[in-house]
Amino acid sequence: MNKTSVYDCSVIEMNKHHSDRGNITVVENGITVPFDVQRVYYLYDVPGGEERGGHAHRELRQLIVAASGSFDVTIDDGTLKRTFTLNRPYVGLLIVPGIWRELSNFSSGTVCLVLASLPYDENDYLRSYEDFVEFKR
Ligand code: TYD
Repeated sequence: MNKTSVYDCSVIEMNKHHSDRGNITVVENGITVPFDVQRVYYLYDVPGGEERGGHAHRELRQLIVAASGSFDVTIDDGTLKRTFTLNRPYVGLLIVPGIWRELSNFSSGTVCLVLASLPYDENDYLRSYEDFVEFKR
């Protein structure tokens, strides 16, 4: 999983069931997301100017969604970087393994929803950029 590129990551436009009473977006394993979701977590109350992420994963796949508010995600494969602004609750950024990511520019009240393919495992993290570069070799 070390040869992945930023072009293996993609923005997924999910479904949106619209009505006068509001909208619903449904996430289903293997349909909306190309993996089985084993873990869900969300970031909130991120102070203005704060950054999150700053790591890569060896095996984990994730779909990152701005469930509310907006933020930027910069992805980096060691060679190329791409930055996406997420600001729609029916749009997700699919991040494959072996990609460094940084989340920034959180608007006030943002909820960043993350759907993950594996349970939490600290050994799956590459937390230093040096280790990441070594992993990508
Ligand atoms: P981390 O993934 O480093 O946060 P971020 O990428 O948003 O900056 O997670 C921060 C801490 O939260 C981590 O050190 C341990 C804890 N944590 C869990 O215990 N389980 C989880 O599933 C996650 C995502 C984090």
